[in-house]
Amino acid sequence: MSTTMNDTFLDDNANIPEQAVGAPFSDDAKIAIRDVSVAYADKKAVHEVDLDIGRNEVIAMIGPSGCGKSTFLRCLNRMNDTIDVCRVTGSIKMDDIEINDGKLDVVPLRARVGMVFQKPNPFPKSIYDNVAYGPRIHGLANRRSELDDIVETSLRRAGLWNEVKDRLDQPGTSLSGGQQQRLCIARTIAVSPEVILMDEPCSALDPIATAKIEELISELSNNITIVIVTHSMQQAARVSSRTAYFHMGRLIEVNPTQQVFTNPDHQLTEAYITGRFG
Ligand SMILES: Nc1ncnc2c1ncn2[C@@H]1O[C@H](COP(=O)(O)OP(=O)(O)OP(=O)(O)O)[C@@H](O)[C@H]1O
Ligand SMILES: [Mg+2]
Repeated sequence: MSTTMNDTFLDDNANIPEQAVGAPFSDDAKIAIRDVSVAYADKKAVHEVDLDIGRNEVIAMIGPSGCGKSTFLRCLNRMNDTIDVCRVTGSIKMDDIEINDGKLDVVPLRARVGMVFQKPNPFPKSIYDNVAYGPRIHGLANRRSELDDIVETSLRRAGLWNEVKDRLDQPGTSLSGGQQQRLCIARTIAVSPEVILMDEPCSALDPIATAKIEELISELSNNITIVIVTHSMQQAARVSSRTAYFHMGRLIEVNPTQQVFTNPDHQLTEAYITGRFG
C-alpha cells in the first residue's frame, strides 16, 4: 500500500488532541455534537467529534480532501442515511431533538436543517415549482396566493427575484450556474430552515456569482445558522466567524476564523493553511 503525504505527516505527529482545542461547550448552542463517529462499512471516516455550533453562527469547515468534511456535514441532517454502508454513532442535539435518533422522522428534520450542494441541482421543474416544492410537501400554504408570497419572498431573499420574476414558468435548469445555485438556496429557505448546510456551494461558480452567494450567506445568518464546507480559505475568512479544521477524520481545531488563519493552535492546521499539504 502506498503511503500518502498525509499518512506520513500524521505518523510523524502522534499528538492529535483528543478533543479540539478552543471548543468550549456552551449552554446556548444551536447544535451540540458529542462523540460523533462515522464509518463506511468497517472503515472509519470521522472520529469522535465534539463540537458546539452557535445560534445564527456561520462556521466554516476546512481540511484536506478526504478528511471527512462532507461526511460530517451530512450527519447534521441525516443525509448519511441515504448511504447503505454508512453508520453514524454519537449524539447530535439540536434544541429539542436528538438528530441521530433512528426513530426521528427525517422529513421535517430536513426542512429544519436544509442543504445546498456543490453542484447546483434544481429539480427538472419550473423556477416557481422548484421553490414551491418544499412549502407544498410540508403544507405551509393554504392558498395559491400564500404560495406565491413564499416563492417571491424566498427568491427575493436569495437575491434572484429581479432576474427571474418574468420567467417563473421556465425550467430551473435554464438559469446560469450561479442563478441555479441561488435558486437552490431559495428552495432551501422557502421552508424556513433554522440551519443550512452548504457543501462547497461556490466551487462551480465564477467570482461574481461567488460574491453574490457570500453576500447572501451574511444576510441569511441574521436568523439562520450556517455550516459551510469550503476549500477556499479566503472564502472561510470572508464569511465565517469560526473555522473548524479537520484532518483524517478528526476535528483538530476550532477557533475564531481570524485566529485559525493567523495564529492556529495546532501544527497540523498551520501546515494546511501555509500550504505544506492538502
Ligand atoms: N459513499 C461512501 N462510501 C464509502 N466511503 C466513502 C463514501 N463517501 C466518502 N467516503 C470516504 O470517507 C472519507 C471522507 O470522505 P468525505 O467525502 O467526507 O471527505 P471530504 O473532506 O468531504 O473530501 P473533499 O474535500 O474531497 O470533498 C474518505 O476516505 C472517503 O473515501
Ligand atoms: Mg466533500
